Amino acid sequence: MTSPHPTRPAALPPLVTPSIIADMLRRRTTNGPFRPDPVSREDQHTLMRVAQAAPSHFNSQPWRFVLIEKRETIGRVAELAGQSMTELIDAGLFFERYRRYFRFSQTEMEAKRDGIHIDHLPGPLKPFTRQVFSDAGLKVMRQLGVPKKLGEDNRQLVAGSPLLLAALLDKTEYRPGELSGFYSVFGLGAAIENIWNAVGALGMGIQFITTPAEIPRRWQEVHELLAVPDDLELMALFRLGYLPADQSRPTIDWSSRHRKRLEQFVYRENCAVPEEAMPEDDDSPL
Ligand SMILES: Cc1cc2nc3c(=O)[nH]c(=O)nc-3n(C[C@H](O)[C@H](O)[C@H](O)COP(=O)(O)O)c2cc1C
Repeated sequence: MTSPHPTRPAALPPLVTPSIIADMLRRRTTNGPFRPDPVSREDQHTLMRVAQAAPSHFNSQPWRFVLIEKRETIGRVAELAGQSMTELIDAGLFFERYRRYFRFSQTEMEAKRDGIHIDHLPGPLKPFTRQVFSDAGLKVMRQLGVPKKLGEDNRQLVAGSPLLLAALLDKTEYRPGELSGFYSVFGLGAAIENIWNAVGALGMGIQFITTPAEIPRRWQEVHELLAVPDDLELMALFRLGYLPADQSRPTIDWSSRHRKRLEQFVYRENCAVPEEAMPEDDDSPL
């Protein structure tokens, strides 16, 4: 078989094919609704299989997953996610915690190449785009009922998802503060990234559900719902499903396809020398 890569010796199998690279560059977060159809068991197990293909320290495979399809469990997680979102926005906590990730113009986005460009606020808030993180902005948002609206949007997105996935770590490996704590998180991240990369090929999407984890009592309730035993740590929750043909943007689009330029995150030989871009490098948004 000839290698599809011009510099890769033909004798080697095409382990990294351009299509894998293209798929990885296409990987994305789904912020909108999924189709209501259940995710087939086969596809669910494929995702678990790709998760398992991830590397782990000493092949310890410290990850555990819960596949959740019961409507009442999904409905309760959705309520918790929505209530947490409302609470975080209403108390100003969300903007206090994450202010530094928000960009308000194309110019700012072009310069930093990270964070989220707020270009899609709900209509009545548009004139206040730059003020959304100020006390005055928060007041306007409360008057307009934005915290409730965002919470309800979030609840509906989660409630309408056919599948939730909880990611956990084995606490005998996950010991925060020790190297094994870092290794376990690294391995779980790799396993989740494999899932994230694979969903597109199955016609599916995935989104992190982080709001309940921001409020300890809500996160505790998720633990109870999922009957998490003492020897496991609940690390993350996701919603998954098949993608509809039309993917509309949500009220606020929390995801971004912008990425830093090479010289903004890669060094050559030591940290004093930024890597130089080549003319053929493509640094346009993914
Ligand atoms: C640790 C972590 C937490 C995240 N939390 C959320 C979240 O709460 N909601 C969400 O929609 N996306 C979340 N994301 C996805 C990022 O917003 C997203 O990856 C980023 O904006 C780039 O967009 P992309 O994934 O479409 O390339 C999270 C990603 C990571 C790695």
